[in-house]
Amino acid sequence: MQENSRNVIQALERARRTQNITYSELAKRLGFQDPSAAEHALDPSRKQTLDTVARIARALGVDTRFELSQGKTTFITFYNFAGGAAKTSSVRDVGYQLKELGFEVLLVDTDPQANLSAWLGVELSPKDPRSLAHTIWPGIFGINGNPMEDPSSYTLPEPQKTTHGLHLIPSVITLSAIDRILPTADNGTLRLRNVLRKLHGYDFVLIDTPPSQASITSLALNASDYVVVPVETNEKGASGIAGVIHAINSHRVSNPSLTLLMLLRTRANPVMRAARDISQELGENAPVPVGIPLIERPAVYETAVQLRAPIPALPNQKRYDDAKAEVWQVTLELLDTLGAIIKVSGSSHA
Ligand SMILES: Nc1ncnc2c1ncn2[C@@H]1O[C@H](COP(=O)(O)OP(=O)(O)OP(=O)(O)O)[C@@H](O)[C@H]1O
Ligand SMILES: [Mg+2]
Repeated sequence: MQENSRNVIQALERARRTQNITYSELAKRLGFQDPSAAEHALDPSRKQTLDTVARIARALGVDTRFELSQGKTTFITFYNFAGGAAKTSSVRDVGYQLKELGFEVLLVDTDPQANLSAWLGVELSPKDPRSLAHTIWPGIFGINGNPMEDPSSYTLPEPQKTTHGLHLIPSVITLSAIDRILPTADNGTLRLRNVLRKLHGYDFVLIDTPPSQASITSLALNASDYVVVPVETNEKGASGIAGVIHAINSHRVSNPSLTLLMLLRTRANPVMRAARDISQELGENAPVPVGIPLIERPAVYETAVQLRAPIPALPNQKRYDDAKAEVWQVTLELLDTLGAIIKVSGSSHA
């Protein structure tokens, strides 16, 4: 936890007193079983996670904002070459949650399956040759496809604004041609990095990748500072981690500062013992921070896809609350891992 948390906790304690909220009332609002837990959480001598501080602020109706210490764009690729690990769902949900927390967020869909685009309501027609112009394609090969053009002059298209207020560079199935053409291009797999760094005004750029180890994923890994690896919480997911880490490490030749930020345990089955054991083992033995398990909730996730909505943007109904709380917590864990700090809006120490 950052050094500013003591000040923030003191500000929250002042807010609690001003509003005459007892510790046990606050504990109830936070869902703590133990009424003294709220008092402990507001003890400035104790360390608190960003998640706890943010939840207390929310329970007290105190406005907060988050800041990343580095103050520049943070590029994160969500990567796992295993299919169905919840890469796309995580980009959609964490991206939206970051936006809700006040960050400027751009999502980049590099997967020709284009699930992220479709799930955010953006569907480019594969039959329309102009569709590629809205994807990362012009940033990699230019608009005219003229091989004499200087690749350093290429730029990305204007991102699309989705219904839920996210910025998105979408994909379309024809983007798969990248894997065929890129190996013949000079410094091909560095081109996404170069064009993304021409963008301004974003706190986060989150990149969704296809389930493969082909050129498109190299574009994304070379373009990123960090990698988040969603891992399906089962035997297959756990046994694939070593290979994924190896693939990430191999990109340090072209992108030396690439950092594995977090593993996300996804689609965790809380009932099956084997899944629980794997989840626990991953949590204890992983080489990097591991997020809380995202529980397998087929009805909720299917609804999100049907409604073209991120999980946190689902209607205000009780049956979505647990899934929303998990996305919130994973996002706060990610921010904590990145060294983000929380500030109380309008307070003098903030
Ligand atoms: N916690 C969850 N509970 C239930 N279903 C989930 C959960 N997370 C993701 N899903 C569903 O699992 C499927 C795979 O998820 P997703 O498409 O996000 O994975 P992916 O890693 O992007 O897959 P691919 O490798 O094909 O790109 C989707 O139908 C998604 O809605
Ligand atoms: Mg996907």
